[in-house]
Amino acid sequence: TILVLDFGSQYSHLITRRLRELNIYSEMLPCTQKIAELPWKPKGVILSGSPFSVYEEIAPHVDPAVFELDVPILGICYGLQELAWYHGKNVLASEKKEYGHAFLDIHRHAGGESHIDRLFQGIADRIQVWMSHGDKLAKLPEGFEVIATTGSAPFAGIAYTKKPYFGIQFHPEVTHTPQGTQILANFAVGICHAKQEWSMEKFVDKEIERIRALVGEKGQVIGAVSGGVDSTVAAKLMHEAIGNRFHAVLVDNGVMRLNEAQQVQETLQKGLGINLTVVDASEKFLGRLKGVTEPEKKRKIIGNTFIEVFQDTAKEITAAASGSAEAGPIEWLLQGTLYPDVIESISFKGPSATIKTHHNVGGLLEGMHLKLIEPLRELFKDEVRALGTNLGIPEELVWRHPFPGPGLAIRVLGEVNAEQLRIAREADVIFIEEIRAAGLYRKISQAFAALLPVKAVGVMGDKRMHEQVIALRAVETTDFMTADWYPFDGEFLKRVSRRIVNEVNGVCRVLYDITSKPPGTIEME
Ligand code: XMP
Repeated sequence: TILVLDFGSQYSHLITRRLRELNIYSEMLPCTQKIAELPWKPKGVILSGSPFSVYEEIAPHVDPAVFELDVPILGICYGLQELAWYHGKNVLASEKKEYGHAFLDIHRHAGGESHIDRLFQGIADRIQVWMSHGDKLAKLPEGFEVIATTGSAPFAGIAYTKKPYFGIQFHPEVTHTPQGTQILANFAVGICHAKQEWSMEKFVDKEIERIRALVGEKGQVIGAVSGGVDSTVAAKLMHEAIGNRFHAVLVDNGVMRLNEAQQVQETLQKGLGINLTVVDASEKFLGRLKGVTEPEKKRKIIGNTFIEVFQDTAKEITAAASGSAEAGPIEWLLQGTLYPDVIESISFKGPSATIKTHHNVGGLLEGMHLKLIEPLRELFKDEVRALGTNLGIPEELVWRHPFPGPGLAIRVLGEVNAEQLRIAREADVIFIEEIRAAGLYRKISQAFAALLPVKAVGVMGDKRMHEQVIALRAVETTDFMTADWYPFDGEFLKRVSRRIVNEVNGVCRVLYDITSKPPGTIEME
């Protein structure tokens, strides 16, 4: 394992990401991690970048015990300055911040024999790199050599002669440094001798074993599923590990898409063999949504009602399933937490910021004292998809667009009722069907039809109509933080619009939302 110590840079998690792509297992922890409390010994340590300056009074510093681990260390950006700070405190603010592409000239010193040249082994003498820093070394710390420079950075790369410590001012983890992954590989494999053994198959085996050990011979687990990728993959993994001692619960909240609850039941129960309980709570949800038009209020009602229904169901299942000869009480709650959520909760936010605990569902199931089990907590989204494929989950499900918890309640703008839901459902099915038929489903990140709470005038045949308006939304995005609307061709839009107006009663107009995010959000409420 390579230990990445995070000082709060926006790129920190990419270091872990790149190492994973090299099949090297790595874990990221906050820079304040006490080395003595680490339950394992890393083969190498990477110090990340940071928004801080090492000389600031509030600047975070690593546990000095890192330097006693006797393993190679690579400092990136702030990490380089941290190394230099530890070895003599010669770091200053630059007159000029450096941000963007730069050319790095590599200096090879020791005739290939010394460890110093290994970081840039097999790399061209001049490469493009990505810089993003405001501080620089005032002078080379004692015992260090320069291994790379740029036009404006005389200490763009440094190495310690006595130990395998390296510092680089640029960011090898971003794609703007084309040979960055090779540099990280040189460090992790060439210098730290980390094994390139991490693979999805290994992960599955290891995780199943871990779940079995954790839960025990008789332990039982409960978890909510939605039909989305994360909860389905987590559920399937649990099923592989402990069979019917895992209890999945699907709450039909009445605001799912057309036939969605039945489809999810079919796939999970029949297709994947998961022990599933479906609870139809539509009436309860729709009753509480009556007359509510404010989006945040809708979210709150749906969130709270979900907790209530899930909790009641969990109690019933617990009562029915506990204490038999083969199985003990339900003690665990499954959560489909992914690595980005974990990063969000552990990433270093500054010395005074308390680290927030994510997904505080311990308190969610009141009085049940369930312990959390999170089998996906080490994985990125695309790894979850790969895992899903590996576990035999159908491709359509593995590549399904995200669907929000509050469902169609935030896609029926204004008041939600059965008739408005019918219109939104029927229009959505047509839109998605056409997107699939055009071969665009995978290219588009998220698409849906929303129903606007206004009426417009239209004419069909000889009849004048006064009916509602559907707004279509389709976006491309990688992180859902920013998004662009998808540029469909006119013929496609014409086809969808004609179908919706002809086939869905109550609609006389179709609009296409051409707002990017920001300023628009992906959902319309
Ligand atoms: P926005 O609308 O914020 O959406 O640009 C970003 C992503 O989050 C989803 N989304 C939600 N998911 N509960 C959820 O589980 C919500 O209340 C919610 N609101 C938005 C949205 O579908 C998109 O993928």
